[in-house]
Amino acid sequence: MNDNTVDSLREALKHSPENTPLRLLLADTLLSLNRLEEAEEEYSNLLKRSNDIKSKIGLAKVFFKKGNYSACNVILEEVIDNGARDIDVFTLYAKGLLQENDTAKAIEAYKKALALDPNYFDEALDKQLRLRGREEVPDLEEELDSRFLEKPNVNFSDVGGMDLVKKEIELKIIKPLQHPELYKAYGKKIGGGILLYGPPGCGKTFIAKATAGEVKARFISVSLNDILDMWVGSSEKNLHEIFELARNNTPCVLFIDEIDALGASRSDMKQSSGRHLINQFLQELDGIDSSNEGVLVIGATNTPWNLDPAFRRPGRFDRIVFVPPPDEASRESILRLKLTNKPTGTIDFRTIAKKAEHYSGADLDAIIDIAIEEKLERAFEDGIPKPLETNDLLNAVKKHKPSTQEWFSTAKNFALFANDSGLYDDILTYLKIKK
Ligand SMILES: Nc1ncnc2c1ncn2[C@@H]1O[C@H](COP(=O)(O)OP(=O)(O)OP(=O)(O)O)[C@@H](O)[C@H]1O
Ligand SMILES: [Mg+2]
Repeated sequence: MNDNTVDSLREALKHSPENTPLRLLLADTLLSLNRLEEAEEEYSNLLKRSNDIKSKIGLAKVFFKKGNYSACNVILEEVIDNGARDIDVFTLYAKGLLQENDTAKAIEAYKKALALDPNYFDEALDKQLRLRGREEVPDLEEELDSRFLEKPNVNFSDVGGMDLVKKEIELKIIKPLQHPELYKAYGKKIGGGILLYGPPGCGKTFIAKATAGEVKARFISVSLNDILDMWVGSSEKNLHEIFELARNNTPCVLFIDEIDALGASRSDMKQSSGRHLINQFLQELDGIDSSNEGVLVIGATNTPWNLDPAFRRPGRFDRIVFVPPPDEASRESILRLKLTNKPTGTIDFRTIAKKAEHYSGADLDAIIDIAIEEKLERAFEDGIPKPLETNDLLNAVKKHKPSTQEWFSTAKNFALFANDSGLYDDILTYLKIKK
């Protein structure tokens, strides 16, 4: 193939401009000759006509060669999301990710290439990702480290309201960490975890992170669904590794989201493999094989009723804490917190908090976002940035519906009709159905 080939192909295309395979050949040839601008033009041309995957991959290769790695990765991500299973694609993606310093994702991509052909290996990738032995699983520990271990920079002072939850965490998690000798003196076992439940966006994840910040502990946040999906067929090992990661980095808050993924009522959990995973989880929680000292486990779920009751035994998630939407005073303090570093006039926090009944912390974030966007738009028009005012926020409240209501319509039924020894009384109290 040479530059003459290009000329002949171009000539042929003049006569049949709609000949897609021919144009693709031209584009590929240009790419192989490193005539990148022309190749890009031809691939783009092809993509205007159809969503052809080969053209997409070609375009990604052009971007890679041009050093535009983020554009390359975006395309490949989409191609992979759409089901492409191709060693070349995964390898290129891994290389693109490495250029962007996303080692964890690069490992994942390279692993997918290896999964397609265990004998395949790419020297550059092997070297950079330090994969010894081609069929071996890449260094799981390192991957987990970079992916999950955090040092949070938020603490309880960043959390508005949630006084009851803070108190529970204080008693059950923080105090035992600070005064283990007192607990031992009374023969009280340290350990077990707290399970937070409630509607979305009301601060479960946020307060878990803040707890870690509060005691200057490391923070690991995983979702059980991630663990289940991470590497097919090795969920138990993954679960163990995550707990080990926490044990090796104490003090550590291990936050496990979507605990309900282990729910006894999920059909895939009824099969024996699901049972295994539940048992593995309980063993890790109990710290049978290795001590959980210094590991503070906080679980979260939106659907506690799906949870296997075995999780609630003493020493496990023996505190189940309802995280309700913030009340008026909490909404006010959340709004104050969120607006501290923003340009504002005098804001009537009280009135806004009143109007934002049923709004979650995340909803309040959204409202501020909306208000700011409107302000920006205004500023683009007249070029004068103006501070946020009460009315801007009140208008934003009107534009954003609270997101907590749907959860309550389900929760209410469980609380009314499946309220196992008063487990969900807090929901009824919140709904003013019960005192
Ligand atoms: N009490 C609060 N104080 C300050 N910010 C809050 C509070 N509650 C929620 N937020 C804000 O809302 C965002 C969403 O909260 P978070 O992710 O903790 O909700 P969640 O209860 O974990 O929701 P989900 O059930 O969907 O996982 C947080 O990142 C935070 O910015
Ligand atoms: Mg969450």
